Amino acid sequence: MKRAVYPGSFDPMTFGHLDVILRAAQLFDEVVIGVLNNSSKTPLFSVEERVNILKEATKDNPRIKVESFSGLSVDFAKACNANVIVRGLRAITDFEFELQMAQTNRELEPGVDTTFLITSLQYAYLSSTTVKEVAGFGGDISKFVPDFVAKEIYKKLSERECL
Ligand code: PNS
Repeated sequence: MKRAVYPGSFDPMTFGHLDVILRAAQLFDEVVIGVLNNSSKTPLFSVEERVNILKEATKDNPRIKVESFSGLSVDFAKACNANVIVRGLRAITDFEFELQMAQTNRELEPGVDTTFLITSLQYAYLSSTTVKEVAGFGGDISKFVPDFVAKEIYKKLSERECL
């Protein structure tokens, strides 16, 4: 059984994430998506909401599981009995951060290796941050996230405006 974990913030999940998840699920018997519960950031969606969005988006694939985690990605990988961390690489600008993270993780836990999937060309520009920015100004995000996620984003943003 080859199991990999795919850790990230997923605030919110985009088509770029989904692309990496579905391709990883063809390479591994099981992919456990790990949604980081990071108290130092103020996310748009709570960790439970992000987990639920990912579960809904991947519900048709029994090889994909979704969980939240706190702490180190390597510890999450070990807890899942996975020896591979999957990360997506969009462009050279991602490389430096990803290299540093992969090398740090390897120092922390030599038994866990990182593998990179190059994001498909059509999603190479996409990030959760730009999705939130476009949605915040009322722009069309239908090319960036599934429809049900777009609805959740607009709902969340309108709730925030009412505060
Ligand atoms: O989606 P993101 O925000 O690019 O994901 C970053 C993530 C969650 C993979 C990274 O911040 C992470 O692994 N955080 C957990 C803490 C950790 O393991 N740090 C050591 C690596 S530098």
